[in-house]
Amino acid sequence: MPPSFADEHSPVEPYRIKVVEAISLLGREERERALERAGFNPFNLLSEEVYIDLLTDSGTSAMSDRQWAGLMVGDEAYAGSRNFLRFEATVRRLTGFPHVIPAHQGRAAEHLVLSLLAHPGDVVPNNMHFDTTRTHVQRVGAKPVDLAIPEAYDCENPHPFKGDMDTDRLTRLLDDRSAAVPLVMMTLTNNTGGGQPVSLANLREVSRIAHARGIPLYLDMCRWAENAYFIRTREPGMSQRSVREIGRECFDLADGATMSAKKDGLVNIGGFVATRDAKLAARIKEELIVFEGFPTYGGLARRDLEAMAIGLEEASDERYLEHRTGQVRFLAGLLTASGVPIMAPPGGHGVYLDVRRFLPHLDARHLPGQALVVELYREGGIRAVEVGAIMFGDGEEVADQGLELVRLAIPRRVYTESHLRYVASVVRHVWERRDSVRGFTMVEAPEHLRHFTARFAPSAD
Ligand code: F0G
Repeated sequence: MPPSFADEHSPVEPYRIKVVEAISLLGREERERALERAGFNPFNLLSEEVYIDLLTDSGTSAMSDRQWAGLMVGDEAYAGSRNFLRFEATVRRLTGFPHVIPAHQGRAAEHLVLSLLAHPGDVVPNNMHFDTTRTHVQRVGAKPVDLAIPEAYDCENPHPFKGDMDTDRLTRLLDDRSAAVPLVMMTLTNNTGGGQPVSLANLREVSRIAHARGIPLYLDMCRWAENAYFIRTREPGMSQRSVREIGRECFDLADGATMSAKKDGLVNIGGFVATRDAKLAARIKEELIVFEGFPTYGGLARRDLEAMAIGLEEASDERYLEHRTGQVRFLAGLLTASGVPIMAPPGGHGVYLDVRRFLPHLDARHLPGQALVVELYREGGIRAVEVGAIMFGDGEEVADQGLELVRLAIPRRVYTESHLRYVASVVRHVWERRDSVRGFTMVEAPEHLRHFTARFAPSAD
């Protein structure tokens, strides 16, 4: 028997490495200077200043030899490129959605769908909106509402599908205000809540509730393959079905989807909208021409469409997914063994540190998530991201509710077991001296999506 990837063994890579990129760890003083220059915001650090980059799993994947070869067969015709046809056929085959509209990344797809479907005063329910989705709903004057199940907000609860939506709350919302709900969204997996999957049972129920009132269901399908893999491995009765079959049932329950292929499309740039709604597709294409480009390239080089078609298939390969989710579980296991508090169970694309239990001496006012992110870089050159009050608080006010997490996102096919062991030991060192970690204040912030560019300073008290 080959070693199982699912036990205590570390996951064995289902690939070998053909190209490498040098990385190095700056000295402690240089890291300190880099932090000050960056206003203590990791988004302002230079890549060269980072040793292990866990800022995001988005657009940071290593492409395969097949994808790189795909770039060489780019048919760069403005209209009617054969790469578009292949891309369109792949998305149709995987999702069953007939209308496929490329876009340069996920938020462009969100912009196209939400600016056409949502209106001022509307309400858009989602299990949990990701920051860009939330912003696009707000920009049209509508209100984003998160309806995740209560377990999603409890880091210690081992519920296998914390991405599920609270269907009682959805029913109540639709009973009260269905005329104001232009679409229901479901984010697979729930990134904001820890990369937690949505069960097929829940998706069926959400689809039934929305469709009973004639409201369309759209999936934010960025991490659809990881979600389908969790359905296969965690949901009763699903283990004999393939990931693609499960994925296809998820899409069959919906009316359309927005996609950032920078995640489960294994590309560095790319995305799309897919829908059954021919009228909406026609309107989207009109907008697309204004904002992204002609419908057979949508803001991308045609070779990018080829890489995306190949990547979508590779991302739904079961050996790949076993390793991918195994890496996350492996890092989570090392951290848990050291007593480090994390969002349980580990999700699909990263390990999320539970900041409230990590730094209980810092209250929300002291931006503990940011303090932890700074400390991880200071300790070992690791770049992580706060997913909490700064990312989701509105305006200047810092939310004192919801989840307070620091995400260690794992790029796809990029880091090895020894990198993950290094990450675990850096986190452990910070954990061991957690009482010494001081708080931060925000000194500069834009109105929207402030975590990207805000600047911070150590707090005085
Ligand atoms: N939806 C979800 C669930 C996401 O996680 C992201 C991006 C988007 C939409 C937007 O896609 O970046 O291609 O425009 N998430 C990245 C992250 C940025 O780090 O989690 P995009």
